[in-house]
Amino acid sequence: MLIHSASQLLTLAGGPQRGLELGQLGLIEDGAVVVREGKIAATGTTLQLQAAYSDEESFNAEGRVIMPGFVDPHTHALWAGNRAAEFEMRLQGKTYLEIMAAGGGIVSTVRATRAASLEELKAETLPRLRNAFVHGTTTMEAKSGYGLDTETELRMLEALLELGKETPLDLALTFLGAHAIPEEYKGNSQGYTDLVCAEMLPAVHAWCKQTDTTLPFVDVFCETGAFSLAQSRQILETAQGLGFPLKVHADEFDNLGGSSLAAELGAASADHLVVTSLKDIAALAASDTVAVGLPCTPFGLAEQEYTPAKEILEADGLLAIATDFNPGTAWCENMQFAIALACRYMKLTPAQAIAAATINAAAAIQREQQVGSLEPGKQADLLLLDVPDYRHLGYRFGSNLVRTVMKKGQFYPVKENYAPF
Ligand code: NIG
Ligand code: FE
Repeated sequence: MLIHSASQLLTLAGGPQRGLELGQLGLIEDGAVVVREGKIAATGTTLQLQAAYSDEESFNAEGRVIMPGFVDPHTHALWAGNRAAEFEMRLQGKTYLEIMAAGGGIVSTVRATRAASLEELKAETLPRLRNAFVHGTTTMEAKSGYGLDTETELRMLEALLELGKETPLDLALTFLGAHAIPEEYKGNSQGYTDLVCAEMLPAVHAWCKQTDTTLPFVDVFCETGAFSLAQSRQILETAQGLGFPLKVHADEFDNLGGSSLAAELGAASADHLVVTSLKDIAALAASDTVAVGLPCTPFGLAEQEYTPAKEILEADGLLAIATDFNPGTAWCENMQFAIALACRYMKLTPAQAIAAATINAAAAIQREQQVGSLEPGKQADLLLLDVPDYRHLGYRFGSNLVRTVMKKGQFYPVKENYAPF
C-alpha cells in the first residue's frame, strides 16, 4: 500500500540521536510511504512514490502528519487495584516516601496484585493497553514488580507475555522483583535482596527457557527506602551473570549513584534521573546507556524538579522519554502528554521530544533495529495525526491527536466520524 499526501512525513531515519543531534526528524514535505507485508518498503515525496509505485493500492492521508508509532520505554502497566486515596493524602501534605515508609505506596498495590488471578490481572490491564494504543503507543516496555514473591512476579510476567501475544501492541518485558521491600521482609532489605538473587532471578531465567521467551530486562529501584547502591549492584551483577540485559530506576528522589552504576554495567537505560549529578551525567554520556526522563512522574507528584535534559544533551548523552505509567505516581498511558510535559519542563523542542519518544525510546529497550523510525525493512508501525504540522505535538495537550494507528501494516482507526453537533 502507498500512503500519500501527508503534509509532513517524519521518518526519524538514521538511528538513535545523541546529544545536540537530538531532533533530526527526517521530515519530507508532501510525504508518502509504501508498506508491504507489515514492513516499510520505501519513503519519499508523494510525487516520487506515485511514479515509482503506480500499481500499488493507495491511501490518501489528506494532509495529515505521518510519523512512527510511539515507543514507551518505561511503564508499570500491569497491576490490580488503585491508589486514589494516596493521591488525596499527598494533596493533604504527605510525601510519596512517607506514604511508602508507612506501609502504603508500592506495597499496597502488591497486596492487591498478589490477590488477583492471571485472568483478573489481564482483564484490568487490557483497557489500559488499548488506551495507550489509541494514543499512539505501538511498542511498550512493561515491568513486573507488584508481586515481590516468586509466584506473583512470574504470574505478572506470564500475564504480560499473553497480553503481548493477544494484542497488536509489542510488549518488551522487564523483571522488577527489586521494586520495593515486601512487608514480610520489612527491616530486612538484605534478606529480600538475597532472595531476588538466589531464587527469583534463576526462576525467571528458567521460566524464559520453558516458555521460549527472550530474557526480559532486569530493573532495580535504587532509592532510599528501596534498594541501596550495594544491593542494586548485587542484583544487577547477578542478573548480568545470567545473561539478562539491565535497567535501573535511578535518582528519582535521592542520588545513591544508581545512574553511574547503570553506565558502568552497560545497562540499556537509566530512568527517572531527577537528582542526577553532572558527574553521573558525564558517566551516562560516555556510555551507550540511554537516559530516560519520565516527566509524568514529577507532574503526577506535583514536584518541581524534572530530568536535566539540557545538561544530558550538552554532555552528548542519549535521551529518551517515557510515561512511567503506574498506579502510584503517574497514571498516564499517553505519550503525547509526556511530550507536552517534556517540552515545558525538560525544555525540549517538539522535534527533540518526538525523537526522544520514538527512535531513542526504541534504543532504550534495544529495539532500534525494528521500530522507532520509518525506514525500509522496519516494522510498519506508524501514526496519522490529525494536525497539519508536527509541532502541534507538545503545543496541544489534553486531547488525542492520533487519527489512525497502523501496526505491522494493519490500520486501526481511532476516531470515528462522531459529531454530536
Ligand atoms: O517509577 N519509582 C518506583 N516505581 C514507580 C512507582 C510505582 C508505584 O508507586 O506504584 C515509578 O515511579
Ligand atoms: Fe518506574
